[in-house]
Parts: sequence; C-alpha cells; structure tokens
Amino acid sequence: MRWKYYHTKFHYDACNPSIKATSAWIGHRPFAYDLVRFLKPQTIVELGTHWGASFFCFCQAVSNAGTQATCFAVDTWRGDAHSGEYGEEIYNGVVEVANRLYPDIAILIRNTFDHALDLIEDGSVHLLHIDGFHTLEAVTYDFQSWLPKLAEHGVVLFHDIAVKEHGFGVYQLWEELKKHHPSLEFQHSSGLGVLFPKGTNKSINKILSLKEEFQAIYTG
Ligand SMILES: C[S@@+](CC[C@H](N)C(=O)[O-])C[C@H]1O[C@@H](n2cnc3c(N)ncnc32)[C@H](O)[C@@H]1O
Repeated sequence: MRWKYYHTKFHYDACNPSIKATSAWIGHRPFAYDLVRFLKPQTIVELGTHWGASFFCFCQAVSNAGTQATCFAVDTWRGDAHSGEYGEEIYNGVVEVANRLYPDIAILIRNTFDHALDLIEDGSVHLLHIDGFHTLEAVTYDFQSWLPKLAEHGVVLFHDIAVKEHGFGVYQLWEELKKHHPSLEFQHSSGLGVLFPKGTNKSINKILSLKEEFQAIYTG
C-alpha cells in the first residue's frame, strides 16, 4: 500500500479560471486529490461548495481514478455572512463545470445542510468535507448533525482550522476533536483538519504514519 504524489492537472481551471482565483482552499488540492486517490471513497459529501474549488478537486480525483463514486455538493448557493451573499452566476458556473467535466460523478444539492440530511443514508459517507458557515456554533452543529452519515473508517475534512479572526471558530472545535480522534492537520491555506472519528484501518494507519512527510511535501 503506497501513498502516491500525483501532481495532477485540474481540468476545471481551464473551464472557469475564477474558481482557482477566488478560493482560500486552493492550497489543499494536492493533498486532497492524493487522499481521494488513496482511499477511493465511494461516496463523498461536501457541505459548502461556493465556486467549487474543493468539490471539483474531489470530482477530478474520482474521474482520473476511473472508479464508480459519487460526489455530492450541498450548498444554497446564496452565500453566508462569511463568504458574503452572492447571485445566480456562481451556481450557474458550478452547474456548467459539473455538466461539462463530471456529469457521471457530481450531484448538486441546492438546499440547506439540514435538508440534505434526509437525502443521504446513515453510515454511507466515506469522505465528508465541512466548509460551510465558520462560527464555532455552526461548524459544531454541522459536524454533529452529519456524523451519523459517516461510514466506518470514514474521514472528515475541516477547512479554516487556522483562522482566528472574523468570528471563525473552526479552530476551537478542531482543538477539541483532535484530542479524541486520530487526526492530522495543515496550517497553510487557512488550515485543513483531517479527522478519523469512525475508527482506523491499515490505509488510515498508513496516512497517519506519513504525517511528517506530508508537512514537508504539501506545505513546502
Ligand atoms: C466558504 S464557502 C465554501 C468554499 C468552498 N468549499 C471552496 O472550495 O472554495 C461556504 C459556502 O457554504 C454555504 N453555506 C453556509 N451555510 C450553509 C447551510 N447551512 N446550508 C447550505 N449552504 C450553506 C454558503 O452558501 C457558501 O457558498
């Protein structure tokens, strides 16, 4: 079982350059891409998609792997107090990229995270990315309400664990969670927490054993 560093090209950059230009998440693409290729999650759910920088990274990994997997993007595509309110052009742009590049992989759920809970089976999500509203209260609620959806050995990604201003509180939740579950983290690009709250297996232990190497490779 080998972790591979892919250095892939992301096709959606050419499709819509605004995606790469506007996202604070973009520095996590190399790790997130390699993670999806390594773990081969069959069901990926993202809470908070906006332009799609993170979501289309997951889709690209699934597409390149040639596996049968589904990526769900959940967002109202109306914005919030941190990302700002925005208009229809962003949702239309996401639909266009999804239809053009990832038609058999991407499913867009234009609704609140709460409403989407009814559409996803308990224990069925192998990778959950939480990147919605960033107050401590909101991210704690998102994590607790979606945790039952996570499959055995599932992974949860939290963006913005390094941001301590503008009312962001992901870092406070992260400090608590990492005391109780196996994890690794990155501080660049506003920070990414990687949590394994549903147990470990050989693949996850391999990932955990590479923590130091990852710091050198992905943050360098
Ligand atoms: C920080 S942005 C997501 C950024 C994106 N992951 C990226 O890679 O750039 C947060 C998004 O979450 C959405 N959002 C926040 N709270 C939500 C909720 N409760 N239900 C649905 N969408 C929500 C907002 O509309 C916004 O588009």
